[in-house]
Amino acid sequence: MYLLAIESSCDDTSVSVFKDGKPLSNVVSSQTIHTLYGGVVPEMASRQHQQNILPVVESAMQQAGIQTIDLDAIAFTVGPGLPGSLLVGASFAKGLALALNKPLIAVNHMEAHVLSLLMSDSKPGFPFLTLVVSGGHTMLVSVESPAKMEVLGTTLDDAVGEAFDKCAKLLGLGYPGGKALDDLAKTGNPSAFRFPVAQIPALDFSYSGVKTSFLYFLREKGGDFVQANLSDICASIQFALIKPLILKTKQAMEQLGYTQFGMAGGVAANSGLRAGLQDLATENKWDFFVPDFQYCTDNAAMIGLAASFKFQEADFAPFSAITHPRLAIGQNV
Ligand code: KG4
Ligand code: ZN
Repeated sequence: MYLLAIESSCDDTSVSVFKDGKPLSNVVSSQTIHTLYGGVVPEMASRQHQQNILPVVESAMQQAGIQTIDLDAIAFTVGPGLPGSLLVGASFAKGLALALNKPLIAVNHMEAHVLSLLMSDSKPGFPFLTLVVSGGHTMLVSVESPAKMEVLGTTLDDAVGEAFDKCAKLLGLGYPGGKALDDLAKTGNPSAFRFPVAQIPALDFSYSGVKTSFLYFLREKGGDFVQANLSDICASIQFALIKPLILKTKQAMEQLGYTQFGMAGGVAANSGLRAGLQDLATENKWDFFVPDFQYCTDNAAMIGLAASFKFQEADFAPFSAITHPRLAIGQNV
């Protein structure tokens, strides 16, 4: 069984060919133009998807070594995401499925992130908890099966990746600066400075306050002090950003009584967060899983994996299916 999966929810055009639940290719074309603007410009993102989609499909098919005639279904990201970006992937998928007379599969981008933990050979069994941490999302999701997930907590304002990027930008580390901040933090002292972390009830998160306090701190201390203490400042703000993620993951695991958890999304690359969650797992004798980094950031292989489960259930989308920029986990399309 061969599936072609298309991901175009934000600023990455990605296509993957899947065979029997495993990726044969996973081509990602990341749009670099947005770095000039310090954030994703939606209109530019959809135009770039239009330019990139055909070459990316061709490259994914070539790497997989199959012809379009071999495909059994076409999957695409139906939401959440930028409206104009989603439309490009959905329209291309519909056109191809119609031309080949094959079924369409509509995949929720967040459900795909959650399920990306199942991509590697070393993977959790059901049930498990996934922490999704990216530039657009911060979520704790309990997963009983591919079709049964529940959001336990989410951010009330900014996503953690967005907070990393904004703090990095204030330090002049470019965009997206999460990785640069992490690299500097590795040689710094996380207790050198204290940044207040919002105390949000239950399993939700909030990142707008810590970002503002960071801005005031930098203004008050001045440029020379900041440059002289850059590693310590990076380590301290990173500590403040990841602390709630670790605390709430622990709280959710205790609440659920699960023994397995993992994380996905671009911020899963963060060295401090990885170490903190690994320590949490070790202390509690829990199993901790992180997919390969290529499956953590936005990619079509995770769309292919989620679509493979839907294919088994013959859960196909009608050609009248429309994209949903604010699609929630578990919401039907
Ligand atoms: O999942 P992702 O590729 O896509 C979007 O949400 O668009 O996540 C990108 C985010 C960015 O905010 C980036 O700064 C962050 O992941 N990121 C990191 C690290 N590597 C990427 N944040 C902290 N530490 C890192 N090492
Ligand atoms: Zn994503």
